[in-house]
Amino acid sequence: MPPIVANGRRDAQILACALCHYPNGKGRPENSGVSGLPVDYFVRTMFDFKQDLRKSGDTRKANTNRMIAIAKAMTDAEIRQAAEYFGAMRWTPWIRVVEADVVPKTRIAAGLFVPLEGTLAGMEPIAGRIVEVPEDTEQSEVIRNPRSGFVAYVPRGALAKGAALSERGRCAMCHGADLRGLGPVPGIAGRSPSYLARQLHDMKRGTRKGPWMELMRDAVAPLTSDDILNLSAFAASRP
Ligand code: HEC
Ligand code: HEC
Repeated sequence: MPPIVANGRRDAQILACALCHYPNGKGRPENSGVSGLPVDYFVRTMFDFKQDLRKSGDTRKANTNRMIAIAKAMTDAEIRQAAEYFGAMRWTPWIRVVEADVVPKTRIAAGLFVPLEGTLAGMEPIAGRIVEVPEDTEQSEVIRNPRSGFVAYVPRGALAKGAALSERGRCAMCHGADLRGLGPVPGIAGRSPSYLARQLHDMKRGTRKGPWMELMRDAVAPLTSDDILNLSAFAASRP
């Protein structure tokens, strides 16, 4: 594991990538999965962060602002080392996608939904949301176990609607059969639907606008918020 991934670099105030993205790059809903990405894409998107071409549509999202500051402080060599380290790991199943009418009541802990416990615990209608929670709150929140994954509840019917939208938007033409990535285009199968939805929103709002975004422009332009939710649910559910 390169030192930048394991320890970050204190003199430049770079936090260890492994802190947020986990040592195995699986990541969490409030950040992103970074393993199994094409090395060229990884490097390119780090330069987009550096050049202020990739921001969150919600400027209050503090961890994205931190990610941008980290990219700006990194050397080219550190970016390449991180890209090659995470790129060498295959993306494997990490998020279980479940269609549901009701979901656990949750609270928000640093950008993550966490089920309420004890007397506050209970269920509530999903109400058109994606609610992505740890499979095991203690393992994720207390231990930050990089082998304890997440479950994403999505509205009933989202997967079929997402499949149809994916067909119509020809996502597979660029993202590859089964959406597992193709050359320099990143895979979107099996990735956090919270992350995917944020990216599609940011692209649509124009806060994510690197040079390669030209290719995504037509795909993203016609999408409504519901389309974004359904496409993200569908892509996340693919192996
Ligand atoms: C404070 C937490 C944090 C740390 C530490 C961190 N990141 Fe991130 N990273 C994020 C967040 C949050 C995002 C997603 C941004 C969003 O959704 O708006 C992200 C996204 C990324 C992406 C984009 C993935 C994709 O599919 O496009 C890459 C690549 C990345 N980080 C690399 C790194 C590297 C390399 C390091 C270590 C030098 C690092 N990150 C350290 C929070 C962090
Ligand atoms: C013409 C090619 C093309 C088509 C069609 C296309 N994409 Fe993309 N997509 C790309 C490229 C290239 C990128 C990387 C953009 C960048 O480097 O910033 C991308 C990035 C993404 C990302 C961000 C991935 C990440 O790790 O941050 C998502 C999500 C995405 N596409 C979803 C979709 C969906 C859903 C569809 C179908 C509705 C679609 N794309 C259709 C080319 C395409």
